[in-house]
Amino acid sequence: MKKKPLIISVFLIIIVTVVGIIIVKYDGQTEQPAQKKVVYLDPEALIEDRVQDLLSKMTVEEKVGQLIQAEEKSVTKDDVKDYYLGSILNGGGSFPELNVEESSTRELWEEMVDSYQDGALATRLGIPLIYGVDAVHGHNNVKGATIFPHSVGLGSTRNIDLIREIGKATAKEIKSSGPNWTFAPTVASVQDIRWGRSYEGFGENATLVADMGVAYIEGFQGTSISDLKQTSKVVATAKHFIGEGYTDGGKNQGDITQYTEEEIIEMDKEIYEKAVKAGVRTVMASFHSIQGLKMHANERLLTGFLKDELGFDGFVISDWYGIQQITIDHNGNSVSGLKEQIKVSVNAGVDMLMQPENWRETFKLTLQLVNDNEITMERLDDAVSRILRVKFEAGLFENPKTDQSLADSFGSEEHQSLARQAVSESLVLLKNDEVNGQPIFNQLPEMDKIFVAGKNADDIGNQSGGWTITWQGESGDITDGTTIVEGIKEVASNKTVTYDVNGKGAAGYDVALVVIGEEPYAETDGDTNDLNLKQVDLETIQNIRTEDPNIPIIVILVAGRPMIVTEQMDDWSGLVAAWLPGTEGAGVADVLFGDKDFTGKLPISWPTHLDAYDNRDKFDEYILFDYGFGLSKSEVTP
Ligand code: BGC
Ligand code: BGC
Repeated sequence: MKKKPLIISVFLIIIVTVVGIIIVKYDGQTEQPAQKKVVYLDPEALIEDRVQDLLSKMTVEEKVGQLIQAEEKSVTKDDVKDYYLGSILNGGGSFPELNVEESSTRELWEEMVDSYQDGALATRLGIPLIYGVDAVHGHNNVKGATIFPHSVGLGSTRNIDLIREIGKATAKEIKSSGPNWTFAPTVASVQDIRWGRSYEGFGENATLVADMGVAYIEGFQGTSISDLKQTSKVVATAKHFIGEGYTDGGKNQGDITQYTEEEIIEMDKEIYEKAVKAGVRTVMASFHSIQGLKMHANERLLTGFLKDELGFDGFVISDWYGIQQITIDHNGNSVSGLKEQIKVSVNAGVDMLMQPENWRETFKLTLQLVNDNEITMERLDDAVSRILRVKFEAGLFENPKTDQSLADSFGSEEHQSLARQAVSESLVLLKNDEVNGQPIFNQLPEMDKIFVAGKNADDIGNQSGGWTITWQGESGDITDGTTIVEGIKEVASNKTVTYDVNGKGAAGYDVALVVIGEEPYAETDGDTNDLNLKQVDLETIQNIRTEDPNIPIIVILVAGRPMIVTEQMDDWSGLVAAWLPGTEGAGVADVLFGDKDFTGKLPISWPTHLDAYDNRDKFDEYILFDYGFGLSKSEVTP
């Protein structure tokens, strides 16, 4: 009978283990008598105390590191640790791992960001990264995210509460994949539609832009700064400071010669006043210049106006190599070389430097500038304090990593239906003719045979525009979603719906819906002097007309800005501006065939010809549809 010794030895092992645990525990307690909490690590301490405490513990190198933002493709987890980096961004079209679109999944993003965060947490002081992305219409870099309409469409909705909800939803999707900062909203007041970034703004009117901007900021960050620490919130950016919509000829990164700094402030002041009041935590300097002086060097505006006058106490981030465009300082002295550019921009008020690939050199030069007192310790401390303040406010020290509970919100049905609603509300009805004695849009729901045509009817890429998965955007099946024609088939399921991209076979149908317009583009590439309909679109319409001279044609323009349709539109019974709706194309059909009416209003004047912008004094003579214009289904074109 060997059982007894076995039971005894098991018993003894248990006793020894339990006693051991007790001793270890007791020992731990005696060795670390109720240690006083380090102030900067204490979530109960005042933010300003935490900032000062941490700042007082930092070496010059650690401080300089906070000022540096590197691009993900050019930096490793070890670099983050070795250079005490303050921030990383993923630029447009920069994905995890293999850097192919297929790798842009939520899961891989989460892994990527959390791993960099581990690098930051492994530094002596464990200061977490603030990690930025351009989530400008949903979390648009990531496949499967809900893509909302671009801001020009949101401006058309005039629905402040809706914009706030979109900000909230987007914040959750961003946070579910790691990043904690979005470079949005764009609060440009768009004055010239030749500008390729027109669609990134809410419209031309400063009050509209300001109010929509505030709503987006509140959605991202919460309605007070104390909300920002919730794991479902992200840091927002008001960009690009200030007056970028006013450049000569609508040129991206261009110069403003017609207006002085004072006039630009006068016109766009309200936007930044309200954004700062709403607590926006970061502001991005713009690439453009006023009277030859780049914004990145403009001390009067960055420090004098934004920080001193408006009381902005978050931090200013430079744009993508933006400091390297500086050629003169605010006194008109010429500036050359990266070192001088860093010196001028930081002293002008830039706090964090977006230097995607050459961040290492930027780090070294900034350190030299501080050691040589060309950037004073006071200025460095100010910049670092601003960055740390935002990191504390955002709860990054307490929650540096992805909150797993947010995963379900990514591309969720709830977010999709919010986006679908936004699409419906963004549609602006511009032309509604009577056909057989009744407004055409009143009749649509009763019609049986619907013909759909056009290159933008069945293309998720085209209806999403630039800043979708890639930087400039792409045509085709770039992410999940419902195209406009799929939405029509779904909503008008009781009807015969036939689609032909080229418009062939329209004869015998009750109506032809022609979905045409722009193809994706983003900054600079999107600048143009030609907003006429493309040949392929004209041919699509022509094909329909040739086969059926009498079929009513309704044009649905999928475009980031007004297009010049003055010569063609007489032949159309209806015209709708659908802007760049994003992934939830069914929102278009909800209005065309469902119970919803058109409620969108133009956020930007619609010109007859682009000459309008070269003849400002006679601008009114070139207006086809006024700012604020938009019909309902029963309102016939006046
Ligand atoms: C754009 C910014 C953007 C940044 C990072 C720049 O080229 O102007 O709007 O936030 O790149 O992608
Ligand atoms: C990046 C964008 C950035 C742009 C600026 C691109 O390569 O992906 O994020 O805005 O460069 O030129």
